[in-house]
Amino acid sequence: MSERKGAAGGANSGKGRALVTGASGGIGRELARAFASRGYDLILAARNEEALAALAQELGAAHAVRAKTMAVDISVPGAAEAIFEALERAGVAVEILVNNAGIIFEGDFASIALENHLRLLQINVVALTSLTHLFLPAMIARGGGRILNVASIAAFMPIPRLATYPAAKAYVLSLTESLSQELSGTGVTATALCPGLTDTAMVRGSHMAKVVPAPMIMSPKEVAELGCTACLKGETICVPGLANRALTSGVQLLPRALVRSIGGMATIAAAARPAPVAAHKPIELVEAKAEPQTSQVEKGSALTRNIEALSVTTEALLRRLDGTRAPAAIVAETQGSRPKTKVRSATSRRPGAKGALRKASGAGRARSTGFAQAPGKAGMPAHAERQLS
Ligand SMILES: NC(=O)c1ccc[n+]([C@@H]2O[C@H](COP(=O)([O-])OP(=O)(O)OC[C@H]3O[C@@H](n4cnc5c(N)ncnc54)[C@H](OP(=O)(O)O)[C@@H]3O)[C@@H](O)[C@H]2O)c1
Repeated sequence: MSERKGAAGGANSGKGRALVTGASGGIGRELARAFASRGYDLILAARNEEALAALAQELGAAHAVRAKTMAVDISVPGAAEAIFEALERAGVAVEILVNNAGIIFEGDFASIALENHLRLLQINVVALTSLTHLFLPAMIARGGGRILNVASIAAFMPIPRLATYPAAKAYVLSLTESLSQELSGTGVTATALCPGLTDTAMVRGSHMAKVVPAPMIMSPKEVAELGCTACLKGETICVPGLANRALTSGVQLLPRALVRSIGGMATIAAAARPAPVAAHKPIELVEAKAEPQTSQVEKGSALTRNIEALSVTTEALLRRLDGTRAPAAIVAETQGSRPKTKVRSATSRRPGAKGALRKASGAGRARSTGFAQAPGKAGMPAHAERQLS
C-alpha cells in the first residue's frame, strides 16, 4: 500500500475515508474524484498501479486529501480478506465502502468459457459481498458508515447474450436493498447505484453501444456525481438519468415476456451487425440537463411520464434495430404471436488471498483490451471481457 499526501501536508480531512474498488478508470475513478472533492480521504484499489498512483497524486494536489493506493486483483479468491487485513494492520478505518469494480462478457452463455463466468461472479458478486461483510461490523459499531454498491440498470431485466452480468447485478441490487432495510437505525446506509450505458472502457465498441441511442449514454462523471450524492444522503437506489429511470420503472410494469424479448432483440440484433471498424464515428455525448427531484406528491404523474418515456425509449430502440417494420410487429414476431396493442395491468418486479495484494512490479498482470474472439463463429466476436482502466 502506498500513500500520496494532500497539498495541506497530508492532514486528515476529518470527514472520513472511502475505499473505492476499480478506481483506476471509468466510473470508479470518477467516484474517487467525487468523494475527494467533498473532502473524503481515499483508498484506491485496482490492478493498474500506475493509474492509481496518478489518480492519488491528482486528488492529493487538487483537494488536499490523503489518498492511498492498493494494487490488488480481486478476481483472486481471498482478495477481499487481504484488503481488509492490510488496512487493519495499517490501522486505517473505512467509513465509506464503494464496491465498484466489475467486468462483463458479451456472447452466448454456452460459448463463454465457464472460468470467465466464474471470474465475473468472483469480482461482481463474491468480492463485493466479502468486502461488505468484512467492513460492515466496524461501521455498525461506530454508529455510522456508507456502503455504495455499483449495480446497473441490467439488475432490473434479463439480457440474453449478457446473461451472467444482469444476473450478478440483480444480486447486487437485491442484497443492497435488503441491507438498507436491515441497517435502518444503525447509522449505516447501503446504496445501489444503477447506471445505464456509460461511456467507459467497459462498453466502448461493444454491441450494446451500437443499439442504444447516443443521448442515452451518460458520462462516468455525471454517473459518479449522482451516485456519490445518493450515497452520502443514504438513498437506497440511485438510477442516474431520466431515460434510465423511465426504463427501470417501466420494466416493472410490463409483462416479463415482453421485457426479456426487448433485451434479447437488442443484444441479438446488435451482435448480428458487422464489427465496428477502426474509423467508426465516435459516440456522441449529450450534456445532461439538471433534473428536478420528484416529490411524493408528484409520484402519480411521474409514473405516467415514466411509462410514456419508456414507450418512446422502447420504440427508439426497436426502430434502430429494424427501420422497416412497426415496433409492435417486431415484438409480436419475437414472441411468436400477432401484434398486441394493449399492455397488461401493472405487475410488481418479480424475483426472477492473501497473495492477491501485489506490489508495484505488475508482473503476471493479465488484462484483455477488447473483444476476445471465441472459436466456432466465423468472424463474429462471441464474447468479450472489458476491464480496461
Ligand atoms: N459502463 C457502463 O455502461 C456501466 C453500466 C452499468 C454499470 N456499470 C458498472 O460500473 C462499474 C464500473 O464499470 P466501468 O464502466 O467504469 O468499467 P471500466 O472502465 O472497465 O472499469 C472497471 C474497473 O474495475 C477494475 N477491475 C476490473 N477487474 C478487476 C480485478 N480483477 N481486480 C481489481 N479491479 C478490477 C478495473 O481496474 P484494473 O483494470 O486496473 O484492475 C477498473 O478500474 C462496474 O461494476 C460495472 O458493472 C457500468
